[in-house]
Amino acid sequence: MNTRQGQRPLRMGLIGGGGSGFIGQVHVTAATLDRQATLVAGALSSNPNKSRASAAEFGIPPDRAYGSFHELIQGEKSRPPDERIDFISIATPNHTHREIACAALEAGFHVVCDKPMTISMSDADAMFQVVRNSNAIFALTHNYSGYPLVRQARELVASGALGDLIAVRANYVQGWMHGMDPDAVPSRGAWKSDPDKNGLAGSLGDIGTHAFHLVQFITGMTPSRVLSHMRSYSNHHQLDDYGHAMLQFDAGTTGLVTWSQVSHGRLNDLSIEVDGSKASLTWRQEEPNQLYVRALGEPTRIYERNPNADYSLPTAVSACRLPGGHPEAFFEAFANVYRDVFSDIRRFMRGEKPDSKKNLYPSIIDGVNGVRFIQRCLESSAADAGWRAW
Ligand SMILES: NC(=O)c1ccc[n+]([C@@H]2O[C@H](COP(=O)([O-])OP(=O)(O)OC[C@H]3O[C@@H](n4cnc5c(N)ncnc54)[C@H](O)[C@@H]3O)[C@@H](O)[C@H]2O)c1
Repeated sequence: MNTRQGQRPLRMGLIGGGGSGFIGQVHVTAATLDRQATLVAGALSSNPNKSRASAAEFGIPPDRAYGSFHELIQGEKSRPPDERIDFISIATPNHTHREIACAALEAGFHVVCDKPMTISMSDADAMFQVVRNSNAIFALTHNYSGYPLVRQARELVASGALGDLIAVRANYVQGWMHGMDPDAVPSRGAWKSDPDKNGLAGSLGDIGTHAFHLVQFITGMTPSRVLSHMRSYSNHHQLDDYGHAMLQFDAGTTGLVTWSQVSHGRLNDLSIEVDGSKASLTWRQEEPNQLYVRALGEPTRIYERNPNADYSLPTAVSACRLPGGHPEAFFEAFANVYRDVFSDIRRFMRGEKPDSKKNLYPSIIDGVNGVRFIQRCLESSAADAGWRAW
């Protein structure tokens, strides 16, 4: 279902994204791409004046341009049910996610939160309890899981097409941090060098968690042990900007996740390879419309993103908007996460239970796993402590 098919648009409240904020604007584009949602309210900055002033750029009316997320939650709760927002999207620095998400869920609003879910294991456990006790849906935007061919890869693995899984390698490699003047004030995201706001994981939290989520999403496996080694090379801050994590899974599969923001010339080179006893697959986000499957002695198979091809599997087909050959990419994948969340919100509004089998959006469990992955990597790397049990 690409559009809302006669149903009313869901009403969105946005926290963060004002001024030069990056991902808040992406959330709005993704949430509204299929005309299933309309942005009606926002608290877009930690500064109340900037927050209200930024709202006009997003088309938010003045009476719903709030000075803080507390004001937004109170203001929206006091509106009649047929006016108030249905869900809140959180696009703010990491240390604010827990407080905003918990307040929104406790007020009965569904939540779409950006990653990493939060900055400590105790916060993650607290969020898990609030989600469990709430009457609302929680989703986390590990948006790369929205790509059609990532979903195709997931279905291929689940069908046994690769055989028993031997190994998985996921890399997220960037280079922008090289050469950054340590005294320069970044035009946006200065909080990312402050451990109190960002958390103790630098590039690990920023991009390593996306690579780890892809491993779990495609293989369906959670590691039993983690061993990590992280370094800080850039002089930009003291947090990691390069790291590896080895993963061991109970089934005997071995894994490796690498993250870097100091690899010259690399942009958003997220890739994953899965080796099985029968075949291997490779997918790269910078060429997201092709998935490669190889088997010894056979020609390489290239799956194109093409909803009309017989080889396209159901979850890949339903993640496409355009015929094959018209490239789809970052915004569409992000919008697929929203589309899945919306179908659960609509199910919820009809009094039905969310359908976690049909819906592939990252959940509170993925959020907790992401924070646990960070925690285990920090512990393992800090004191050369070796393998850490999951
Ligand atoms: N899913 C992705 O691909 C992706 C990409 C980039 C960032 N992120 C995540 O999104 C979050 C934001 O990152 P960013 O790069 O957009 O940061 P940013 O610094 O560009 O933007 C942060 C925004 O939050 C606002 N803000 C800060 N505190 C606030 C508060 N208390 N209330 C309301 N607004 C507040 C700021 O004014 C700014 O507009 C982080 O958690 C980051 O890890 C995810």
